[in-house]
Amino acid sequence: MMNTYEIIKKKRDGFQLTTDEIEFLIHGLMTGEISDYQISAFLMAVYFQGMSPRECVDLTMSMAASGDIVDLSDIKGFKVDKHSTGGVGDTTTLVLAPLVAACGGIVPKMSGRELGHTGGTIDKLESIPGMQVELSKEKFVEIVNRNHVCIIAQTARLAPADKRIYALRNVTATVDSIPLIASSIMSKKLAAGADGIVLDVKTGTGAFMPRYEDSLELAKTMVEIGEGAGKRMVAVITSMEQPLGYAVGNAVEVKEAIDTLNGIGPEDLQELVMELGSNMLLISGVAATRKKAFDLLQAGIRSRKGIAKFKRLIALQGGDDRAVDDIKRLPQPRMEMEIESRVSGYVESIDALEVGLASKALGAGRHTKDDPVDPSVGIILKKKVGDRVEKGEPLAVFHTDGDRKKTEPAKEKFLNAYTIGEKQVQPPRLFYARVTKGGVEEL
Ligand code: URA
Ligand code: CA
Repeated sequence: MMNTYEIIKKKRDGFQLTTDEIEFLIHGLMTGEISDYQISAFLMAVYFQGMSPRECVDLTMSMAASGDIVDLSDIKGFKVDKHSTGGVGDTTTLVLAPLVAACGGIVPKMSGRELGHTGGTIDKLESIPGMQVELSKEKFVEIVNRNHVCIIAQTARLAPADKRIYALRNVTATVDSIPLIASSIMSKKLAAGADGIVLDVKTGTGAFMPRYEDSLELAKTMVEIGEGAGKRMVAVITSMEQPLGYAVGNAVEVKEAIDTLNGIGPEDLQELVMELGSNMLLISGVAATRKKAFDLLQAGIRSRKGIAKFKRLIALQGGDDRAVDDIKRLPQPRMEMEIESRVSGYVESIDALEVGLASKALGAGRHTKDDPVDPSVGIILKKKVGDRVEKGEPLAVFHTDGDRKKTEPAKEKFLNAYTIGEKQVQPPRLFYARVTKGGVEEL
């Protein structure tokens, strides 16, 4: 009989746990035989002692096996997934999923809602009137077979052990641990059943792992876990030094995604779509070279096949696809409010974390887990890093419901996110490295 106390002590003292010991902990967590305080002590031990690659794989597999493993074998062909470790204003999935499908990839996508200061694809998608994001597995498979793409919400049955562990990490200061983040993300990805996964690992102030060395370690760990489970993996390390694109919120980000599919999106979002999308097409075997993958994606935008795919995705999921051509059909804010700069100078940095929190304060995110999000509110940045701004000129426009109890704290947070100084700086680089089982390639 295994003893929970002995397992915690073994990890605390820096020894490796066996596969059976890790399974015993996750099983006990799910049945309630092991208490939350013992799991919490175990998580703190992992926080300090880390885990070997083999332990990470075992923990991930146990967590994935704690709920449904989605069987996508009724969908023919190579199924490719994409995941971001969490960013601010990160609208990428809404562009990538339809675009990659329009180029020949197959994208059965399960996405999450907001986590911490970062937004969730599902909340954004739900700002489209009528959009159904909770579909049966049969309906999901049917839509992917018809349109090669469908985006639904992860159900509570997907890696439920992760949900419990995350809730404990959140209140025990153990979120920012590489083995715990890697197993959390990969347990859901493995349970979602795709054949290949492209990871966007964020680094910088708005990321869960702000330091580059940690982001690299996280990327390597997740690639190793995925390959160990028989998946084709690529991780791209990208910057979250400032919000992505200009829009931060829900409806505003849907509009930004539509603009990008129309070829008129923000440059950084376009570049990220090209980089991640090309890797998705490469591992799917749709394109043989990086150049061919880029050409396919560009053609997908020019020919309007990508935007047509997005319209079809919306229609097949019950949404009002007329919103794609008529943005007024998306939820509109009660008020627009210009946020003026208090000083003149160059934007030296924008703390993405604070901008995410400001958007949340406007009502774009939840404060307790059952709060509704207001799809109509959000932030449109007018200035990004490297831009010149004069005192009194708008740094952003807030979309709000007009409630000063929300706009005032949001405005303070937002203005504090900006560092404006005398020297003109270059915008931060967007790409750092590409990690595969073959190694690390600088970008
Ligand atoms: N995203 C997750 O799903 N889990 C983490 O631990 C961090 C980011
Ligand atoms: Ca954005």
